[in-house]
Amino acid sequence: MRVCGIVGYVGHRPALDVVLAGLRRLEYRGYDSAGVAVLSGDGLAVERKAGRLANLEARLDEVGRDGFAGTAGMGHTRWATHGAPVDRNSHPHRDTTGRVAVVHNGIIENFAALRAELEAAGVELSSDTDSETVAHLVARAYADGDTRGDLPASVRLVCRRLDGAFTLVVTHADVPDLIVAARRSSPLVVGIGDGETFVASDVAAFIEHTREAVELGQDQLVLITRDGYEVLDFHGEPAPAKPFTVDWDLSAAEKGGHEYFMLKEIDEQPTALADTLRGHFAGGRIVLDEQRLSDQDLRDVDKVFVVACGSAYHSGLVAKYAIEHWTRLPVEVELASEFRYRDPVLDRDTLVVAVSQSGETADTLEAVRHAREQKARVLAVCNTNGAQIPRESDAVLYTHAGPEIGVASTKAFLAQIAANYLVGLALAQARGTKYPDEVAREFHELSAMPDAVRRVLGTTAQVQALGRELSDAKAVLFLGRHVGYPVALEGALKLKELAYMHAEGFAAGELKHGPIALIEPGLPVVVVMPSPKGRAVLHSKLVSNISEIQARGARTIVIAEEGDDTVRPYADELIEVPAVPTLLQPLVSTVPLQVLAAEIARSRGYDVDKPRNLAKSVTVE
Ligand code: F6R
Repeated sequence: MRVCGIVGYVGHRPALDVVLAGLRRLEYRGYDSAGVAVLSGDGLAVERKAGRLANLEARLDEVGRDGFAGTAGMGHTRWATHGAPVDRNSHPHRDTTGRVAVVHNGIIENFAALRAELEAAGVELSSDTDSETVAHLVARAYADGDTRGDLPASVRLVCRRLDGAFTLVVTHADVPDLIVAARRSSPLVVGIGDGETFVASDVAAFIEHTREAVELGQDQLVLITRDGYEVLDFHGEPAPAKPFTVDWDLSAAEKGGHEYFMLKEIDEQPTALADTLRGHFAGGRIVLDEQRLSDQDLRDVDKVFVVACGSAYHSGLVAKYAIEHWTRLPVEVELASEFRYRDPVLDRDTLVVAVSQSGETADTLEAVRHAREQKARVLAVCNTNGAQIPRESDAVLYTHAGPEIGVASTKAFLAQIAANYLVGLALAQARGTKYPDEVAREFHELSAMPDAVRRVLGTTAQVQALGRELSDAKAVLFLGRHVGYPVALEGALKLKELAYMHAEGFAAGELKHGPIALIEPGLPVVVVMPSPKGRAVLHSKLVSNISEIQARGARTIVIAEEGDDTVRPYADELIEVPAVPTLLQPLVSTVPLQVLAAEIARSRGYDVDKPRNLAKSVTVE
């Protein structure tokens, strides 16, 4: 699981209170189950409960808190990705003796092999998670061999065996004053108090107790006691770690120092993309998640529909270009709210891809039901484990963007594009329309996108300054061609919903068929340029479109590839994005449009996270 909240504590206060308060601060990260473990007496007291943290607290009231009297403990709020959000999959997980407890954030990619190894050794696992394997492996290492009786060495040994991303916090009832935590590609910070030490996935968990913190590096392990901490690498050598002082207030801390969740989520896009791609290329092949569709099913497909709403629909429009190009299958992209009312032609050889961040959107759910009634096969692309849409679909591919709190979709949108592309590559692979080395190359190019998006985030200050200038505009138009067209639609949608400003996205070629009448002096027009190398013909056509609107006095804001000098004379404002393959351009060119909309909204004094009249999950038709 990814983007869970983790807290660990050793000190002088009742650990249960400290841990629960920390979890409350982290609940925004994941909230489909929660659990705590406290080292008390010579054992471990553990309670776990599906649902929100309040359910766990009610459960603790029911069983009584007396058994949780110790001053060392840990807790977890979960955002499930492996295993449904039920009590037995909640963290902490224990080994069979109940003396080791583990909480985990991340995805252990080789967990199937580790699980098989444990089962072969007669260990009975009690959950469907990847995380539980760690508890058993640590317990076995602690019980035997060179690492016997040495918790840090046991954890190090296990960490070296894990593939994937993880933050782990581990305790053993034999050493009640010590907590060991480890990280690889998932966040972990240490908080240093007076006679107490904390570990957490986020400083928000301990900021009310201390502002002195230490950030751990990649593949590092920290041992915390009430007297301090020690950082080691996975081989037991002392490792450098970065101390810092937290200067945010509490509410900023929950938002990672950002003013709004949406800005934090925009910043998280490289991670959301990397996490969505992680583990989907193994043994030279694209692998999907719960793919209850065989390769034969994918070969039988003769038409693809993407059904979705809002931004998710735009992710489908982007994917159409790639899926048709890679598979030579016709792809129709349809608003879910229209789909079932027009008697679409569906049969068992139709693949319907239902894209939904929440997995609860009523229109999309009804479209799924309609498609299944017509015997079409439905693959859900979803960000929420166990939601209704994946539950009612034949197969599911999860986007691992983590919880999106801002109502306007940002990181989930980018993750949806990446996931839709994985569907396209899986189809191309099964149908043989791409050679294995071509599929590998496409995946490799996708894998470079988190870095490209990170570079785009470097232009945020320029775009924000522009946003402030545009805050009084009456309207903004967005133009694009090819994959830039859905990007224009997405840019306009973001601006409408956040800044309550009239905004329209157009295919630039349509301009002369009507919309050009809207152009008047000073009207801001955002143009999403294709690559001058990758799409030379389209590029020159768009340059003509820009000169047409410039001639009529529009203010041109151009998003173009770095080094695209031909477009410079036509741009009143030029926002450069890294050069990437054409089909991947939406992943970089959308980002400045998100930032622009958020900044215009902020300058107008609106609540960026909660725009008026909107809800995060639209569960009515
Ligand atoms: C726009 C936005 C909405 C959603 C749409 C679908 O920023 O967030 O347009 O994309 O309501 O929601 P899901 O993906 O949850 O089905």
